[in-house]
Amino acid sequence: MVTHRDDKHWMMDSSLPLVQWFVCIQILLIVGSTVQAGREFQQQASQQRRLQPYTDNTNDVPQHSPPVKSFLVSDGSWIDCIPIEGQIAAHHQTLQEHNIQMGPSTQARRSRHAPGTSQLHPQLFAREHGSCPQGSIPVQRIDPDRPSLKKSRIPTVSTSIAGPGAAPGETHEYAVTGLPQSAHSYSGAYAFFSVNGPVLEAPQQDFSLSQVWIIDGHWNDGTLSTIEVGWQTYPLLHPNDKPLAPHLFIFWTNNAYNYSGCYNLECPGFVQYDSKWVIGGAMPYYTTLGENRKRELEVEIEVLYDPTQLSWWLYVNNDPVGYWPASIFDGRLRGSANLVQWGGEIVFFKRGNGISHSKTGMGSGAFPVGGYPVAAYQRNISFADASGDYYDAKPSVLKQQRILNDPHCYNITIQQGNFRNWGTYFFFGGSGGNNSGCAGKE
Ligand SMILES: *[C@@H]1O[C@H](CO)[C@@H](O)[C@H](O)[C@H]1NC(C)=O
Ligand SMILES: *[C@@H]1O[C@H](CO)[C@@H](O)[C@H](O)[C@H]1NC(C)=O
Ligand SMILES: *[C@@H]1O[C@H](CO)[C@@H](O)[C@H](O)[C@H]1NC(C)=O
Ligand SMILES: *[C@@H]1O[C@H](CO)[C@@H](O)[C@H](O)[C@H]1NC(C)=O
Repeated sequence: MVTHRDDKHWMMDSSLPLVQWFVCIQILLIVGSTVQAGREFQQQASQQRRLQPYTDNTNDVPQHSPPVKSFLVSDGSWIDCIPIEGQIAAHHQTLQEHNIQMGPSTQARRSRHAPGTSQLHPQLFAREHGSCPQGSIPVQRIDPDRPSLKKSRIPTVSTSIAGPGAAPGETHEYAVTGLPQSAHSYSGAYAFFSVNGPVLEAPQQDFSLSQVWIIDGHWNDGTLSTIEVGWQTYPLLHPNDKPLAPHLFIFWTNNAYNYSGCYNLECPGFVQYDSKWVIGGAMPYYTTLGENRKRELEVEIEVLYDPTQLSWWLYVNNDPVGYWPASIFDGRLRGSANLVQWGGEIVFFKRGNGISHSKTGMGSGAFPVGGYPVAAYQRNISFADASGDYYDAKPSVLKQQRILNDPHCYNITIQQGNFRNWGTYFFFGGSGGNNSGCAGKE
């Protein structure tokens, strides 16, 4: 390759024939574009962001670094914009020196939601303030006096008995479905969720949710590892901002819920990238029972493994929100999961002697028979296999994998086709002990 000096020399030689001038100009263009590419690379390198744990000497508890800006949202909650490098994930031992992935690799994902079109953003922060300044992420401020809460348990059939991970007296009820358990089989999950506002019987402790579980490892050896996303009404977790509204939530564990992992951005693990979505934030525009309405509000959720980055990306309404690096799962969820489940769950605390059922609502509080737009649902249920190819989940398969405690309390109905192009879908939920058929009603 010619050097720059040679170029100059050629250029100054006015006796060059026309052809040589062309060659000369082409070389200049190539050299020029190489210099340009070099500059871009340098810029990228200087923009590359690395996680940096924040410590303030007085306190070595993992925490986010101080905000660059804070916003008061009209529901009374505070959103702190944390420098992306200083988010709490920086304290995870496998994420020292971690280069933040500034977006997923190009990959065929399922999400179709067109950002900024038909639907307004479901969260108040984005509606009222747009987003955090470039290079920072929104983090919901948590009352320091609020106890930290652990989640408990994947759906299992023997759920009326408190099992490992359940707090004393706590009872879970499910209306869930999923794919067959099979090692190294799944690398993504997708669905549109109706967003509802169930009524809780005991708001000071119960919760009600709609979510997807991506599961690997096993209960019996304590390696159970999960990625979980959905909405939940859980006032204990959100005592201040619209406590009875559904909140977007995420969760993960790598040791069968034995105090590893956490909700939202409350411990090091998940790396947020998006500057609008508040993980753990309320979605106050939800569908409630008894309205005279024609449609239900929805949120589109996808989790897909990125084999280039070795991380599980979360997309909400097609926005890449952030990712769970596979390294945090201690050997599980490394490229694939062995189980995917979708559905609803409630938790209540047992009262009295025998097992009774709570009157806490699941889904919208209506039974699946209510259909659209009354009962809660998840639609377009699909999954990616280990190589990242997507398939609609087959209703015949999902029907085999139902997990239900008592369909008179909470039920699930799996269907496909002939409704609004929904692919595979299910309605789920119920009113628990409010229904006269629900055994053990108080
Ligand atoms: C949870 O972890 C602790 C300490 O790491 C261990 O002693 C305990 O047996 C674990 N509990 C379960 C249910 O695995
Ligand atoms: C159960 O019934 C009570 C009293 O009628 C009502 O206030 C509550 O909303 C109902 N809960 C559900 C989940 O339907
Ligand atoms: C629960 O849902 C199934 C499937 O749609 C239905 O066949 C069954 O009758 C329902 N059970 C009750 C108690 O409503
Ligand atoms: C839902 O699934 C159906 C059938 O697979 C498909 O035609 C439709 O485009 C899907 N809709 C969305 C929003 O993904």
